[in-house]
Order: sequence, then structure tokens, then C-alpha cells
Amino acid sequence: PAPGWAIEADVVVVGSGVAGLTAALRCAAAGLSTVVVTKARLDDGSTRWAQGGIAAALGEGDTPEQHLDDTLVAGAGLCDEEAVRTLVTEGPGAVRRLIASGARFDTSASGEIELTREGGHHRRRIAHAGGDATGAEISRALVDAVRDAGLRTVENALVLDLLLDAEGRTAGITLHVMGEGQHDGVGAVHAPYVVLATGGMGQVFSATTNPAVSTGDGVALALRAGAQVSDLEFVQFHPTVLYLGPDSEGQQPLVSEAVRGEGAHLVDADGVRFMAGQHELAELAPRDIVAKGIMRRMQEQGATHMYLDARHFGAAMWEQRFPTILAACRSHGVDPVTEPVPVAPAAHYASGGVRADLHGRTTVPGLYACGEVACTGVHGANRLASNSLLEGLVFAERIAESIAAEHASSPGVRRWPAEIAEPSLLPLIAPEARAEIQRVMSHGAGVLRSAASLAGAVRELEAVHANAVLAQQGAANGPGVLGGKSAEPGVESWETSNLLCVARVLATAALERAETRGCHWRDDRPGRDDETWRRHLVVRLAPDRS
Ligand code: SIN
Repeated sequence: PAPGWAIEADVVVVGSGVAGLTAALRCAAAGLSTVVVTKARLDDGSTRWAQGGIAAALGEGDTPEQHLDDTLVAGAGLCDEEAVRTLVTEGPGAVRRLIASGARFDTSASGEIELTREGGHHRRRIAHAGGDATGAEISRALVDAVRDAGLRTVENALVLDLLLDAEGRTAGITLHVMGEGQHDGVGAVHAPYVVLATGGMGQVFSATTNPAVSTGDGVALALRAGAQVSDLEFVQFHPTVLYLGPDSEGQQPLVSEAVRGEGAHLVDADGVRFMAGQHELAELAPRDIVAKGIMRRMQEQGATHMYLDARHFGAAMWEQRFPTILAACRSHGVDPVTEPVPVAPAAHYASGGVRADLHGRTTVPGLYACGEVACTGVHGANRLASNSLLEGLVFAERIAESIAAEHASSPGVRRWPAEIAEPSLLPLIAPEARAEIQRVMSHGAGVLRSAASLAGAVRELEAVHANAVLAQQGAANGPGVLGGKSAEPGVESWETSNLLCVARVLATAALERAETRGCHWRDDRPGRDDETWRRHLVVRLAPDRS
């Protein structure tokens, strides 16, 4: 759609989680005129839902080197070691700066930051806030800082496409805004630097810990803009999500790893601890191993879920240390103080995304990516618990430094977008297809995959796409000539188009990777094949975007 209004800035940050707001605050502090656009309200992204915490070598006896080792082990041979070294070395300072800027973390009586454990960490290294409300506190602190700094923000703004100048350099974005006064409907932000911090894509699956806004918009935009995207097959399924029944869809309540970090046990319906003996860390093995352990036991027993037993914590500890989880469980009729909590894995985190270097630069000049939307190489084939908030912080700071340096070397440069010939979100997918895409993905490309299930998923997704093309041609030739009704432009159809775009790439990559590695579990290829597959699958869409 052609923009009806435009804002100008040096930098536009798309997304308002830990990565987006940190990047925006840093860019503004460096004197760059900065606009934050976000799809719902400023605090509606995934950051707010993070429970366990933020990992950093802050404890006595811990070192970045040990954090690096744990991260590389979890990443199953596909981490970029330099990126991980950057993360773990700069992490402790970044967390301290976050605290200095107003985030209140839990501390001991002597004022030391309290640290817990989570899967894959050999040390207590997870800083937390409000017990199990770490993300909510980080979000609060950053939103307050953005308001105090008077940063320009546009809420209820769905990003559509990247604008490029005649040389193929970033010149801004188009976006659709609802209910924000003078900036309503489709408009543009013209800016030579765009920072994508749009979060993940959990909504491509039927059940996920991600909020409704996580529809893969940033990855889809980057693909349409010709940027490289990598590692999409590595979707992390969180092992312990509150099980609400077979038909429960959308965002599901998380039961943090930190509950296991404090000593909860995974048990089956007979009360048998099944992770002991499967890994030296038992319930605290890396997340892919725990998710597989749960799925295996579910398959053996024909069960829909397992249980997390933390009755031994007692009421006081539950109330003080895990108030959010306690309230969520109780609101669904489960009391963790007196009964084991039913849990099952659900889609949680996209380890892959838009390829970004150590300064967050993507392969399109002027386009940066940060946080879950990015693939910096720190997560490899499986993200280590609580490394994501840290990644958002560390790489956002680096992005702001990089943009400020580039801007200083070419001050006053403005790039004007080349005319947009055609709306690029084509074919538009009707919102009714969303549930079908999610069903196909959960069934064919979920925790447990095989060549047959993935080939089926790819086929069914192609059919959704082909039907939309037919419907669009039908609309062009007169209603009803070919196919069904074509989709109307609007937030829901744009989101559904993004979901289909990322789902197709994800399923195709998962079919291609004929091995089991990290969180990519292929039933028909149970082993890790380092000879063929110790490499990344990188995707770049052809310019016709179909
Ligand atoms: C959790 O609290 O279990 C989530 C932590 C994470 O995803 O890193």
C-alpha cells in the first residue's frame, strides 16, 4: 500500500522489548533522532513474559569462560564462538548498566544480586526480579526510561516493508497504524537506519509461550527485502508449559526453568522421576534434552503431559519466589503447593532469524537486527536458558554504537526511498488460514519431526499459498472467476501472510536438515551428522518474492 503520511528520523527501531528499547535509548543518547514503532503497546512483546531471568557471570567463582562453555554445549556445534564470547564477556557489564538505569533485581540481605540455576548452566548465574517476573521488571524500567527521555514512539503500528533507495540501501519502513491520531492508516518512517527488534514467531504453532504479537513480522519483512535469514529450523520448545488440555491454543502459561533450578522434579503420572539417568544434570539438562525426555515418556505411556512436582517448596517459597507462576497455575485450577503441575512442551523461541554480524548489521546496508528476530550465532542449534534477554541487551548496545559511528562519519546524509512500484505483501493470505497454518506446523514441524511429517507440512503450506494466488487472480479477473475470495488488506491478513512466509521457510529448512541436532529433532534421522550438517542453512528469497 502507498504511504499516506511520513515521519523522518535518523533511526527507526521496530519493536519495544529489551532489544528495541535498549537500542532506541542508546541511539537517542548518542544524539540520533530516534523513533520507536511497536505493534501493540510498548510493553506488549515477549520481554514482559520472561520469567526465569537473565544469565551473566556475576557470581563469585563464575567466569565468562564458563558461561561460554555452557552456551557452546547447548548450541550443539553451531554457535559462532566469537559472537558467544562477545555475549558472555560484555554481558555482566550490560546487566549492571541495566540495573544502574533503574531495573530492580532481587538481592540478598547483604545486597548481592541473587542468582539461580536453569537448564544447561553448571553454575548459579541467572539474575531475576520480582521472583519470577524478570521480564516484566526489565520492561517497566525500559519503558519508564523511554518516557523519561521523551523518545518519540508510535504504538499499534504493524511494520509492513523495508524501503530501499535506488542503490539498495535502507531508507525506512512502511507501516500500518491504528488509532494513533495524525498517524493513522498506512504511512512511512523515512530513516537511513532501521533496527528490527520485532521478536519471535511462536504464533506459527498452535501452542506457544509467545504473546499474540509474535507473528514473525521482522523475519518476513527481511526476507521480502532480500536479506539473508538463517537457522529457522531451530525452534526451541520449552519443556515445561502448563498443560491446559488437548484443545488449548495460542499463548500458554510458562512454568520457568528456574522452578527446576530450585529443585522441582519431573515425574510421570506414577510419580516416577524419568530424567534422572538420562543426563548428568537430570532435570537441569539443556532444554532440548529435557523436552525430548518429556516427549519420549509421553510417547511410551500414551500420555498428553507429564508433571512438575515442587510440593516440597512449601507455600512460603512458592509465594515469595514464584508468585507469577503460582497465580497462573491457581487461575487454571492447579495448586502447585499441594499437587504436581501438569506440563508439556510448547514452542518458545526462534534460535534462528535475520543474519546479523557482531554489530547487528544484516546483509542489507542500513538494516540492523537485534534480539529474537536476529541470528547473531550466539544460540547455534539450541539457545541456553536465559541467554535471550542478555543477547538483546548486549547487541542493542553494540548496534547503537555502530550506527552512531557511521552517522558521525556521514552526518546529514538522508536517503530517499525509491518509489514503491507494487505492494509486496502478495499474495495476501486471508486471516481464516491462520489456524490451518498453525495446525499444519504443530503437526508436521513440531517437537518431533520426520521427513514424512515435514514434507506433508511443506505441501500443505504450498497449497495455502497456491489457493491465495488463485483467489487473487480470481479477484483480478472478476470475483469468483478463479479460486476463492481474495483477502482484504488489513492487520490480520498482513500478519497471516507473514506467518505463512516464515512457516514455509521454517518447514523447508527443517526438511532439508536431515539430522537431529539441538532442538531440531528428526525421528527418521536420530543422530547428529557433523560431517554433512555442521553448517548453517541460509535463505535469501528471490526478488519476485513468491
Ligand atoms: C524460563 O524462565 O524458563 C524461560 C527462560 C528462557 O527462555 O530463557
